[in-house]
Parts: sequence; C-alpha cells; structure tokens
Amino acid sequence: MGDQIHRGVELAIADINAGGGIAGQKLEIDVVDDKGDGRTAVAVATNLAKSGVRFVVGHFNSGASIPASEVYARMGVFMISPASTNPYFTDRSGKGKNLWNTHRTAGRDDVQGRLAGEYIAQAFAGKSTAILSDGTPYGDGLATKAKAALKAAGQPEKLMSKVKVGEKDMSRLIARMKAKKIDVVFFGGLADEMATLVRQSGEAGFKPQFIAGDGIFTADFPHAAGPDVAGTMFAFSLEDRDHPDAQSVVGRFRAKGFEPEAYTLKAYAAVQVIAKGIEVAGKSEPKAVAKAIR
Ligand code: ALA
Repeated sequence: MGDQIHRGVELAIADINAGGGIAGQKLEIDVVDDKGDGRTAVAVATNLAKSGVRFVVGHFNSGASIPASEVYARMGVFMISPASTNPYFTDRSGKGKNLWNTHRTAGRDDVQGRLAGEYIAQAFAGKSTAILSDGTPYGDGLATKAKAALKAAGQPEKLMSKVKVGEKDMSRLIARMKAKKIDVVFFGGLADEMATLVRQSGEAGFKPQFIAGDGIFTADFPHAAGPDVAGTMFAFSLEDRDHPDAQSVVGRFRAKGFEPEAYTLKAYAAVQVIAKGIEVAGKSEPKAVAKAIR
C-alpha cells in the first residue's frame, strides 16, 4: 500500500517536472517509512520537517497521519493524505481547532462506516453480524460508525470484538463467532489481518459473508487470504481508474507494469493539488498554499 502512494507521487512529480516544473522550479521526492506506527510517524515527521521538506503526501494510516499532523502543523509543513480516512485527521470538530495543514484526497470513515452499516442492514436483513476492529484509530473509527448505522437500522450487531495488529492466531475469535452463529463479519482494519481472518475462518469451516473497508484494497490480499476469499466485499470510493480524466495516467502506469489500484491515483492527484495550490498562491510557502487550496 505504501508502494501505491510512492508510485503515484513519483509519476506525478515526473510529469510536472517534464512540463517544466512549477514556476521553473523542479520538484524533488524524499521517501520515508513510518512503519504504520504513530510514534515512528512522529519521529519521521520531525526529521522530514527539519530536513526542509515543506509538502508531504501521506501518511497512509490514520493512526500515523493524526499524530504526525501535529508535528507538521507546528513545523510549518503542509500535508495531504491519499489514504487516511479517519474524520478527525482533517476535522478536529470544534471551532478554531482544525489544523491549518491537513488535507486529504481520500474519503471519510463517517461516510464509509455508515454506508457499510446501512448496506449490511439492508442486504443481510435478519442475519447475525459481528463487528471487528484492529484497535487502531482507523479500525476503531470505522467499526464505531458501522455499529451506529446498524443500530439506527434496528439491527444491532451480535458481537463486537478486536483483532490485534500482527495477530497470527485468530482461532479463539473464530470459535466464538462460530458458536454465536455469525452470518456477516464486518472488519475495520487492513489487509494483513483480514487475510489471516478469512484464511483461518475457512480452515475452521466458518464461512460467513466478510465485509471490510478501504484498508484491504491491494492485489496481495486475495492471495494471502486463500480460496475462501471468494465473495468478500469491501467499501471504497468510486473507482479512480475508470475516470475519463485518468486514462492517460492509468495507461502510463500499466505500460510500466504497475497496476495503479487503490490509493495510487489519489496520491498522484495529491501532488497535482499541491502543484495547483503553489501556482494559485504564487509562492511555495505552505500556509499560503493551504489557504489557496481551501
Ligand atoms: N484508510 C485507512 C486509514 O485511514 C488506510 O488508516
């Protein structure tokens, strides 16, 4: 998933530079890994800001973007995430509390979670649902919104539980869901844990309808999940690759042997937004660019 963002940013920068850059200046890329971890993200953010980076496309995880955003806000760095969907990232809800520097080309989990909950209540009316979360700001936020939508639809879940990030043995949770005769499992989390859940459920003879959010969108997921992945559903924003304006970029990614799925084009677009913001602001000062974009 990090690769999707990296590739998207890389091509966007190459395209802008090939067109002469911005006001004659070329863009440069610096790539760092926050390991999907909030503390590492803060360390990485501090180093990037100190090294003179002024615009960040990222981070990936909401649990990384949110703590990093505080550092960037203090140190004058603009950020735009192509993947972080927790509403709090851009919406601290409370007048005057929003940060000046947070932006996203991804959607939000208040919409995504409500959609998932409403869909489950409608498509699986009368069935027993389990809601799982990986305990991260992303997973918890998404699971909470889905739970609220199910409750509002008069079909509350039968079981709510957590899965640890990195968990390799889900047998106890699977046995609990089996005993409770769960028909539908909604998972707020990422592809690795979802793959383990689907694979081990199948091996245990537990075959519910699995549904997840945007965080499982990678071509590796079905391979890791195995044959029981068939029929798994997940929510995502409208397919960017189908957008008429994206066809030339999509074609160039494919010509390089890279399929621009999931967050790739949102990352490409994030760079375009920054470039346009600099152009409109008439300077590359991050606060002026943020203002121009808004
Ligand atoms: N949408 C996921 C998150 O916010 C990737 O962490």
